[in-house]
Amino acid sequence: MLEDKFGRRFHYLRLSITDVCNFRCQYCLPDGYQCNSSREFLTLDEIKQITHAFAALGTSKIRITGGEPALRKDLPQIIQQCANTPGIEQVAITTNGYKLKQDLPAWLDAGISAINVSVDSLDPRQFDNITGFGRLQHILDGIEMAIEAGIKVKLNAVMLKQFNADQLQPFLNWIQSRNVTLRLIELMQTGDNQLFFKQNHISGLPIKQQLLESGWSQIIRNKTAGPAQEFHHPDYQGKIGLIMPYSKDFCASCNRLRISATGKLHLCLFAEQGLDLRELMQEGKQHALQDELVALLGNKQATHWLDKGFTGATSNLAMLGG
Ligand code: GTP
Ligand code: 5AD
Ligand code: SF4
Repeated sequence: MLEDKFGRRFHYLRLSITDVCNFRCQYCLPDGYQCNSSREFLTLDEIKQITHAFAALGTSKIRITGGEPALRKDLPQIIQQCANTPGIEQVAITTNGYKLKQDLPAWLDAGISAINVSVDSLDPRQFDNITGFGRLQHILDGIEMAIEAGIKVKLNAVMLKQFNADQLQPFLNWIQSRNVTLRLIELMQTGDNQLFFKQNHISGLPIKQQLLESGWSQIIRNKTAGPAQEFHHPDYQGKIGLIMPYSKDFCASCNRLRISATGKLHLCLFAEQGLDLRELMQEGKQHALQDELVALLGNKQATHWLDKGFTGATSNLAMLGG
């Protein structure tokens, strides 16, 4: 098992397969962002080498991220390959939902077990404003299909002072009769979004307080369950998860490592440039790759320094999948 010097165990790999996205969420991708070209992205075979090495070191969950992972034509093969890796019990995807309706059957066939979809507002005009993409209903239809299929579904909403501050009630109504988790995420500062961050960041703490005062209870999660705080309510089928990276001790329950679409290991969402592993992603080099992963984990820091305004080398989250 991969364990760092702070006693945190890493059984969860977030694997980015592209940094290309067809949306332009205001907090994420700036206009004019130069994506990598598809020829630089990890190949199916490199993905195999890396996921096998992680699985041999105790990884049981892989989340496929991007950019928008559904823009890669070989996504079903990637899902299937991950799902067939010995030791991998869960393959999840984080998507903007644009291709959900069309591609869900193929993802299900390939063995997907959970889907997180970014939905920052249930108001079509707000949604359009935030994402630059106007087909909210199309995405919601895809989400209903995923719920019906019986896989785990989460809705991701980044809390934005100037855009969706009135959406808590509509979201609550929406999850009342649906077995989904609503993830409310604090806007994080990145290299590219400094001004937007200043104008739009809101703390999740008052929302937590509001939930606790209206009958929601915090779910006790084990230490390795990841940094979200989760809440349930007897009258609601859905749950709420708060992601509050600006709160104390957020990183104490960190359970994830990241690989960028170009094969770099990122020990934290906000850290160093990324450590190139591509050389070692070849048949026959698996032991060397595993040894390198164990050695590099020694450099993982206790926490990010976001609260001090430090964003590391992370100019936006599309470059390594959030
Ligand atoms: P699951 O527990 O696998 O469902 O993961 P998740 O909710 O973390 O996954 P998802 O990809 O949907 O993440 C939503 C967003 O939360 C990410 O894009 C990030 O913005 C944020 N986030 C997720 N993990 C971390 C983390 O470890 N640190 C920080 N600072 N933010 C994170
Ligand atoms: N702050 C918080 N979350 C972000 N995401 C992207 N950029 C940011 C940011 N600056 C998240 C959104 C989206 C996921 C893919 O990435 O939650 O759902
Ligand atoms: Fe882990 Fe870094 Fe996220 Fe903290 S900010 S929880 S250390 S990835």
